[in-house]
Amino acid sequence: DYDAFDVSEEVGFLLEDPLTDLPDYYRVWMDLANNLTHLIETHKLRDLVHKMPVLSPHLLNNHRELRLAHLALGFISMGYVWQEGQHSPAQVLPKALALPYWLVSRRLGLPPILTYADSVLANWKLMDPEGDMEIGNLDLIFSFPGGESCRGFFIVSLLVEMAASSGLTGVLEVMQAMKISDLISIQKGLVKVTQSLKKMKETFKLMHKHVDPNEFHGTLRIFVSGWRDNPMLPNGLLYEGVSNEPILLSGGSAAQSSAIQCFDALLCVQHEDETGGYLTRMRDYMPPAHRQLIETLSVLPTLRDFILSHSSADLCQAYNSCVSAMVELRNYHLNTVTKYIIVPGNNPRTTGCPLRGVGTALNATGTGGSNLMAFLKSVRNNTQNALIVER
Ligand code: HEM
Ligand code: ALA
Repeated sequence: DYDAFDVSEEVGFLLEDPLTDLPDYYRVWMDLANNLTHLIETHKLRDLVHKMPVLSPHLLNNHRELRLAHLALGFISMGYVWQEGQHSPAQVLPKALALPYWLVSRRLGLPPILTYADSVLANWKLMDPEGDMEIGNLDLIFSFPGGESCRGFFIVSLLVEMAASSGLTGVLEVMQAMKISDLISIQKGLVKVTQSLKKMKETFKLMHKHVDPNEFHGTLRIFVSGWRDNPMLPNGLLYEGVSNEPILLSGGSAAQSSAIQCFDALLCVQHEDETGGYLTRMRDYMPPAHRQLIETLSVLPTLRDFILSHSSADLCQAYNSCVSAMVELRNYHLNTVTKYIIVPGNNPRTTGCPLRGVGTALNATGTGGSNLMAFLKSVRNNTQNALIVER
């Protein structure tokens, strides 16, 4: 099962040992991506992209090379589009970026835009290769402007995602145990998920030490923004050499994390209407093997019905603890969003910057294009509603 869904016991959905270099033929891509922050800040990136040759992606041979290429082309594309800030996004992605990006994306089953699977799952390396995967020993492969807050934001997200790995083991154990109605193992699997959710919340707290709200909101966020449901680029982006019509794609967001959607699917948390539609659409931005685990869970006989039909108080309690831990994680996330988006968005000092301040556009919309607070509260409330009330 672990292999089929490309999930590991140690690191969950993270890409294991990401490559940090491509075959020499792709040197132009790597040079731009490795110097991205500097090239954006000195306004040189667009000119350099205009001089780029159209490379063929055929020398990319395996999954890890394709993931690194997708990551590099994603960083360059976001930098290219948003180099001049919110008032002059690029409307056209030049062919030298658009065409290889399109082809690499098709091979991976990912969309041609920077996703969570790129910027978080595949964008890490160890400083000391013998050392541990902890915040002091992890660095990004590619960065956007935003200084330490950029590293902090992506690395803390990575550590939260890694804390979900034991929960995913729990999910697979519950799945197995359901097949043979093994109540004890179901309960044990659920306890694993609960413990993992608690660890995710504890890890989340690192955000406060490593990410500054003004730097995050005023500088970093725009580079993760996309071209769908985004008032800054309402008509999408034209991929030159790929299509004659602009294409609409959502920006990166942890809403594209497969782990949380797996937990929702296991616990049968129901998201309907706009909220459910948005979350389902985010699956298109996940690696296909990860998406497959969510979809497999969604079509199995449901755990919630199973518990309702077996009157086991212990099992019911294990289930409810798990749901409560999800509610608590989502409440913590809501508070974080207030601190990192709502508060700096109300501060005129950070919204006035003509270069890359993000004024009104990103105050009410997430980088993934949702109407953030209403959406996140609805997700939290739907989670709460899954609790089994004793009768
Ligand atoms: C969704 C902000 C960190 C997990 C969202 C959304 C926003 C947001 C605005 C709405 C979707 C969109 O339009 O983008 C933030 C901020 C963070 C942060 C400001 C830190 C400063 C994290 C981390 C995780 C996470 C570390 C953990 C993996 C999620 C999930 C959703 C979401 C799962 C989808 C809604 C849900 O299932 O509850 N986030 N996020 N976020 N975020 Fe975060
Ligand atoms: N999705 C997060 C935001 O909207 C990153 O800022």
